[in-house]
Amino acid sequence: MCGIVGYLGYRQAAEVCMEGLLRLEYRGYDSFGIATVSPEITLFKETGKISAAKDSIHLNGTCGIGHTRWATHGVPSKTNAHPFTDCTGKLAVVHNGIIENYAQLKRELEERGHTFVSETDTEVIPHLIEEQYAGNLCEAVAKILPLLEGAYAILVITEDTQEIVAARKGSPLVLGIGDNEYIFASDGLPILDYTRRVIYLEDGDLADVTPAGYTIYHGAEVVERKTAVLEWDAADIRKGGFAHYMLKEMYEQPEVFSNTASSIAENPSLLCRLRDARSITIVACGTSANAATVFAYLMETVCGIPTRVVLASEFKYYPTPKNDVVIAVSQSGETADTIAALKIAKEKGAKTFCLTNVLGSSLTRTAETTFYTRAGPEVSVAATKSFTAQVAAFMEMVNIISGGKLTEDIAEIQRYLPEVLEYDVDAAVELVKDAATLLYVGRGLSYPIALEGALKMKEISYIHAEGYAAGELKHGPFALLSESTPVVAVCLSGITYPVMMSNLKEMKARCAPEIVLGNAGDLDAEEIADVFIPLPKVSEIAGSILASVVLQMLAYKTAVSLGTDVDMPRNLAKSVTVE
Ligand code: M6R
Repeated sequence: MCGIVGYLGYRQAAEVCMEGLLRLEYRGYDSFGIATVSPEITLFKETGKISAAKDSIHLNGTCGIGHTRWATHGVPSKTNAHPFTDCTGKLAVVHNGIIENYAQLKRELEERGHTFVSETDTEVIPHLIEEQYAGNLCEAVAKILPLLEGAYAILVITEDTQEIVAARKGSPLVLGIGDNEYIFASDGLPILDYTRRVIYLEDGDLADVTPAGYTIYHGAEVVERKTAVLEWDAADIRKGGFAHYMLKEMYEQPEVFSNTASSIAENPSLLCRLRDARSITIVACGTSANAATVFAYLMETVCGIPTRVVLASEFKYYPTPKNDVVIAVSQSGETADTIAALKIAKEKGAKTFCLTNVLGSSLTRTAETTFYTRAGPEVSVAATKSFTAQVAAFMEMVNIISGGKLTEDIAEIQRYLPEVLEYDVDAAVELVKDAATLLYVGRGLSYPIALEGALKMKEISYIHAEGYAAGELKHGPFALLSESTPVVAVCLSGITYPVMMSNLKEMKARCAPEIVLGNAGDLDAEEIADVFIPLPKVSEIAGSILASVVLQMLAYKTAVSLGTDVDMPRNLAKSVTVE
């Protein structure tokens, strides 16, 4: 979703902002813009990719702000791109979030003579500031913030001073503190090239940065915020010779799995809490919800603790059991639905935890206790290594709580992950790439793996794919089966095997071409499959997790063969910061 960057220092601000926006590209955007103070406010706005317009940006000045826009109010266009100015053109604003009462504010401003050029909610902000501005930018911004309903991270500049005023409520904003330079950004990635010292602004904070230093206000008070150190490396956010970030991130999974699994024991008191829980609810979206479903299955079957997954966007419509433990799972830690769900859980008196990949993210401020996955920055919109890291964290939690019942499974995953990344899936790609619909099926632990495989396929290849519990197909989806509806099945030795084999036969009888991920040496499964992908002979639990990596590769190679934008699929954003 939208990303913002601001720079004040001694470098060319437009260059820093542009490089920063490129670092935020992964969040998803359809247009972008930069404004600098040079000495008047000068703007550049464009639709499409930043790289295509890079050479046309000629803005001077050492103070500037930039923005990537993911359209919510108004179509993607130059006119709707940020930054926005007031009537005088002396102020410029970038904004991440949604101003919910903008329509009312806009009507009132128009009545008072302001004219608007865009369809956006954001444009009310510079006009409101203009009305209050009498030479002190920070004061003017402070006065208008109470008028804004909704979520925002905003940066404001004026041509009168070398200064950036920033405010945060509900949308992330980080301030990087370098030597005689400051960088604001939506996350730490644009900051890494300049400094590792950062402050994560809190909701309600207002920061005033000038060449003389920075001051942070919270209401009328000046507050000290702790500085943190960015842990990630600038090298982690480069492609490192891979064709796509997604491929690079998939190849990081063996390391990520081990790093995350080995870090879980560092929080013994939290593990005790989970062990003693009467019931556990997990709230999450998308891939994180699929990883949560893996956890729920393991927690219930291995530890006997009732565990349910509620999609974060639905959580508000459900009752929260008394004394429930609620865990929010989110790679980014910025997913609006997940944050909202955890806040509700907290209000209702639940014990709240989160599992996230991003240090200092908004979710960590809401949860009472945080577990981190050790996946490193994930740039590709398609979540791959973060899923595997979440699974590693959850498996290790279950392992510790159960007194070591998953030790073997974890070891098998660690042993075979590098191998399955090298599997040849080309025949499977040939079978699916021209299909209009794909069905992914599994049972038990392979069911969430089927959901995740289908999600990956649809988001990057744009082929319609649905995941089902294999037993559900007969209750409706069977009507879709034909020779042109390939089925991708995870069919592993273990408790689900006999019925999965029956299901494969039933689907075959309806002429559906079958890609089967089974155990090497399983001649029955191999015989029925049109394409058989032999997984190592490991436990059903380990095999399911290894299958998820093969399904990532199938989605990746299919998307590459179809020529889609693998790392930044259409219409999607990496951090979904609106509900
Ligand atoms: O950052 P989060 O884990 O909270 O993100 C949740 C979903 O938006 C995310 O997993 C999404 O489904 C992925 N792009 C799927 O690959």
